[in-house]
Amino acid sequence: MDRFLIQGGVPLAGRVRVAGAKNAALPILAATLMAEGPCRLDGVPDLRDIRTMLDLLGLLGVRAERQGDGSLVTEVVDRTPCRAPYELVKTMRASICVLGPLLGARGRAEVSFPGGCQIGPRPVDLHLKGLAGLGATVRVEGGYIVAQAAARGPDREIYLGGPFGPTVTGTANVLCAAVLTPGTTVLQAAAMEPEVTDLARFLCAMGARIAGIGGPTLVVEGVTGLRGAAWRVIPDRIEAGTLLTAAVMTGGDVTVTGVDPQALTAPLDLLARMGVTVGRPAPDEVRVAATGRPHPADVVTLPYPGFPTDLQAQFMALLCVAAGNSFVTEKVYPERFIHVAELQRMGARIRKEGPTAMVEGVAELSGCPVMASDLRASAALVVAGLGARGETVVDRVYHIDRGYEAIEVKLRALGARIARENPVREGGGG
Ligand code: EPZ
Repeated sequence: MDRFLIQGGVPLAGRVRVAGAKNAALPILAATLMAEGPCRLDGVPDLRDIRTMLDLLGLLGVRAERQGDGSLVTEVVDRTPCRAPYELVKTMRASICVLGPLLGARGRAEVSFPGGCQIGPRPVDLHLKGLAGLGATVRVEGGYIVAQAAARGPDREIYLGGPFGPTVTGTANVLCAAVLTPGTTVLQAAAMEPEVTDLARFLCAMGARIAGIGGPTLVVEGVTGLRGAAWRVIPDRIEAGTLLTAAVMTGGDVTVTGVDPQALTAPLDLLARMGVTVGRPAPDEVRVAATGRPHPADVVTLPYPGFPTDLQAQFMALLCVAAGNSFVTEKVYPERFIHVAELQRMGARIRKEGPTAMVEGVAELSGCPVMASDLRASAALVVAGLGARGETVVDRVYHIDRGYEAIEVKLRALGARIARENPVREGGGG
C-alpha cells in the first residue's frame, strides 16, 4: 500500500495545471451509454475512479480507448446488458451514475444498491423517486435497484429537493433518463453544480433538448435517440481548491491554470476573507499569495453556488493554523468530519459538536504518521503535512489516487518535499 512522506514547511511556488473534473467525467462517461455513435472526450483525468467506471462500462457493452493525445473514445458495441454488479458498485459509489442512462437507453436498469460510506449516510431515495416520477417501475430486490421504463405517459414535473438540498448524481440520473423519455419533464430543485451543468451541455451536444441549464429548473423535451458527440470535460474545481489551500498552508505563491474561476467563487471569497491575496492573472488562472498565518473565518458548506463540501476538510486544515478561532459547519454531509481526529494528532485544536467544528488556530502543526480515510479527508492531511513542522507520513494514499491525478508530482513541481513509497514493495516482503 503506497504512502506519502512529506517534509513540511517549504513554501510552494510556481504554476500548476489542473486536470479535468472527476465528478463531471463520471456521469458524462455513464451518459455515453446512450450514444448511437462514438463519443470523443477530452480532459478525462486518469484516476482510479475513472478506471472503475470504464470497467463498469465495459461490462455494459461500451468499448473505451485512450488515444495518444489523451482523449478517450467510447463506442457502444452491445446494447443488451443492463446490470451493474455488486462487485464493482461496492468499490465506487459513483457507479450509480449508470442507473439513469441504462433506464433511458435500454428501458431497464439493475444496479447494485450502494452501501455505506466514510462520509456518512448517502441515501439514493431521491434518485429512485425521480425515476419513478418519469413513470418507471422502481423496486429494490436482492440488493439491486431494479428499474423498468413505462410505456409513454403524461408530461410530468419532478421535485428533486431533499433534506440537505438538491442531489448532484440524483439530478444527473433523472436528467439522463428524462432526455430519452417521451414528452416533457420539468425537474424542480435540480442541482446546479458545474458538473451537472457540464453533463447537461454534453447531453445537448448528443441531441438532447434541455432548457434552463445552470439553474434549479430544467425543462426536458424527450427525444427518440442521441448521437455520439465530442466534448471537453470542465476543469476540476476541487483539485484547484486543494492546490490553492496547499499553497496558502505553506505561505506560498502559486498560480493554478486551466481553471474556471467562476466555479470557485465561494472558496476564493473565503481565501480573501482569510487575508490571502487572490488574483486572476488570466481568464483561466487563479493566483494566491500568502504570508503569515491566515485570519480565522467561518465556513458553511452548501450546495452550489455555496461553499463545496468537497473542500471542507482542506480548508479546515488551513484554519487549524489561523490566528484565531473559526467555525466550520457541514450542511451537505453533517457527519463528514473523519479528518478531525487525524488533524488533532498533528496538534490541531478542534472541538466538534453535531455538524459544526470549532477550530482554535495554533501557531503550527507538527508532522506525524496519519491515516488517509476518504478522498477529501486524505487530501486535507496532505495539505496539513505540507505546512507542518517535521515529517508527516500519510498512509493508504489509494484514497487520494481515487480523485487526484499524481498529486505528489504536481506538488513536487511546486517545490514540495513529498515522496511516494511503497513499504511492502521496497521492503521486499508480503
Ligand atoms: C456528489 O455526490 C459528489 N460525487 C460528491 O463528491 C460530493 O461530495 C456531493 O455530490 C455533494 O457535492 C460525485 O459527483 C460522483 P448528493 P452525490 O446526492 O451526488 C442527500 C468527492 O469527494 N441525499 O448531492 O452522491 C445526501 O445524503 C465526492 O468527490 C439524499 O438525502 O451527493 C447529502 O446529504 C464525495 N437522498 C445530500 O443529499 C438522495 O437520494 C447531497 O448529496 C441523494 C442524496
